[in-house]
Amino acid sequence: MKKVFVLNGPNLNLLGTREPAIYGAATLADVAQLCQGACATHGFELVFRQSNHEGDLVDWIHEAGRLHAQGEFAGLILNAGAYTHTSVALHDAIKGTGIVCIELHISNVHARESFRHHSYISLAAKAVMCGFGVKGYPLAIAALTEM
Ligand code: DQA
Repeated sequence: MKKVFVLNGPNLNLLGTREPAIYGAATLADVAQLCQGACATHGFELVFRQSNHEGDLVDWIHEAGRLHAQGEFAGLILNAGAYTHTSVALHDAIKGTGIVCIELHISNVHARESFRHHSYISLAAKAVMCGFGVKGYPLAIAALTEM
């Protein structure tokens, strides 16, 4: 069974209490459950993680790259949080591994502050999904079946 990595960046551990008008009431544990359900439906094995540290995310993308090289990887759903808008390192990690990556945001970043309009991840991602709330996660996992 191929693996799907769902990686979450800084402050996403605060989901449920963080700006609920923007991000909703679901917790990160709720999101993990949604992802687990989608992976079960589509025959993927889920690896679901969150870190507030950029280097952890880089290391996990490298781990995904090794699985990809072994033919054991289906794709990465990456909500890099604020690192989306700052991290050349995450961009380079995705490019460097050659993995399929779907960039995901819970909110519609284009309807928010202008500093959220630029993404380093988009340049390296196969697709971008934003504004679907936490339901975007299972939608993105379903989309991996077509990639
Ligand atoms: C986010 C949007 C980012 O701009 C923000 O920094 C986040 C969450 C989202 O899921 O909507 O932390 O990635």
